[in-house]
Amino acid sequence: MIHRLNTKKSRYLGLFLIFLFFVPIGCVQKRLGINNSGQYYNGMVVCAYPDASQVGLDILKKGGNAVDAAVAVQFALAVTFPEAGNIGGGGFMVYRSKTGESNTLDYREKGPAGASANMYLDANGNVIPDMSLHTHQASGVPGSVDGMVEAHRKYGKLKWADLVQPAIDLARNGFKISKKLAGNLNDIQQPLKKLNPGKSYFIKEGGWKEGEILVQEDLAKTLEQIRDKGRAGFYDGIVADQLVAEMKSGNGLITKADLQNYHSVWRKAITGNYKGYKIITMPPPSSGGIALLQLLQSVEKYPLKRWGYNQDSTVRLIVEAERRVYADRSKYLGDPDFYKVPVDSLLKPAYVSARMSNFSWDAATPSASIQPGSFVGYESDQTTHYSIVDRDGNAVSITTTLNDWFGSKIFVKGAGFLLNNEMDDFSSKPGVPNMYGMVGGKANSIQPGKRMLSSMTPTIIEKDGKLFMVVGTPGGSTIITSVFQTIINVIEFDQSIQQAVTSKRFHHQWLPDAIMTETGALDSTTVTKLQSKGYKITGRGPIGRVDAILKTQWGYYEGGADPRGDDTKLGY
Ligand code: GLY
Repeated sequence: MIHRLNTKKSRYLGLFLIFLFFVPIGCVQKRLGINNSGQYYNGMVVCAYPDASQVGLDILKKGGNAVDAAVAVQFALAVTFPEAGNIGGGGFMVYRSKTGESNTLDYREKGPAGASANMYLDANGNVIPDMSLHTHQASGVPGSVDGMVEAHRKYGKLKWADLVQPAIDLARNGFKISKKLAGNLNDIQQPLKKLNPGKSYFIKEGGWKEGEILVQEDLAKTLEQIRDKGRAGFYDGIVADQLVAEMKSGNGLITKADLQNYHSVWRKAITGNYKGYKIITMPPPSSGGIALLQLLQSVEKYPLKRWGYNQDSTVRLIVEAERRVYADRSKYLGDPDFYKVPVDSLLKPAYVSARMSNFSWDAATPSASIQPGSFVGYESDQTTHYSIVDRDGNAVSITTTLNDWFGSKIFVKGAGFLLNNEMDDFSSKPGVPNMYGMVGGKANSIQPGKRMLSSMTPTIIEKDGKLFMVVGTPGGSTIITSVFQTIINVIEFDQSIQQAVTSKRFHHQWLPDAIMTETGALDSTTVTKLQSKGYKITGRGPIGRVDAILKTQWGYYEGGADPRGDDTKLGY
């Protein structure tokens, strides 16, 4: 008996000593933000290029909040990730404060005042190939600089100049280019030469090599204007003059007045629930938020967890939901300032479930038999997303773009930055697919001052009223389905955030009627079963580059950086 008591006592004593030993270590680690296998307590940045992630992390460490870090990352990506990082494009921000307040910022480009519905049609009413893509007329009025100024004005803590300076340093001193960036720059040498006569930006005889230093002095000077004058440093003064001169040199439409009239807009986030998780996401003019919520609602009542990741039944259900959601997108989604988007109707549970009612396990529903629903535009792969959280728990989810890879590939002479070709995201002609296969109609027709429809889906998720996930991706029309799959990979298939980001993806967008798959996304048995039910399957290259952060139940942050790119997660 005495012996047993002693054993029991020594066990308690042992546990107490372990507690005394580990708890202070945990507290010290938490205070110092010591990296413990990729888990961080104080903040995290996940974005498309390592130098830009470093810039964001430095800002967080200096006491900046998530919005400060986001502003610094946007400008740093404009230097280090010219494929899609930008000051000549636009984007969307979803924000959630440490206290749970949410907001979104729409800094999407707008059609210039000189734009018109038929501007890309010839005399016979046919779409003129390439005109909405690689000409001066392809650019919408850029929104990124105004967006960053506005985000900083409302939520920023550190000085504006301190957030722009790191990008100036990267542009002026140069940075080491990765193998992927070298390859991407080499791939566009011919169009760069053709579209930028007399300009030398990014052109290199003999080609770029990994590890070389890319210096952008003109861009550094432009960023200095933005650092010193804020909004006026881009929409007025020397940079605006350079942009308008560039437009005039190629019959472009953007005028001084267009620049001065550009303003980003705060919009109420749209929210929905999935199995107790609250989804906070982007409203129109992105189609992304509505489509994501429709997809989640469409699959919620089915036992995905039991069926398993990318198994036959899982794929069939998701494909049938996607087919219907993308059909709706083609008809009902556009800029809410110009077209009454029926948000509430599209998200009504009864409507979503009625849309799924003709889904049959016997055979695939042909897309030809699916029309947009009724009740009482495929964009570029080349966008970029970043997710940031700070030590207080504020979170930012931003997707930003020039549309195509390196936008229109036209530089503003003397200013050193690339112009977007976002006008291609409008519907040039009803029913005619744009370069990425998306069709649209009246809701997304071209009008002066209107924002073109997007698929960008920056999203933040709460669990039990607390921050749970920050997620988003580039990928044009595949953005919505990649964000959707990442979410269900975590919630349904219990994948870690890194696994969920790395996992192979598939995509269906109503038209064309085919399941697009990354190599290895579906095993051969699943492929055979799907084909036997009438599903067409086509392989394609990588789908999306998701950058996400998860807050674990233990209170630390874990990142998921997409291995498909140079995406990098850094925390402290
Ligand atoms: N240009 C890509 C998107 O906005 O969806």
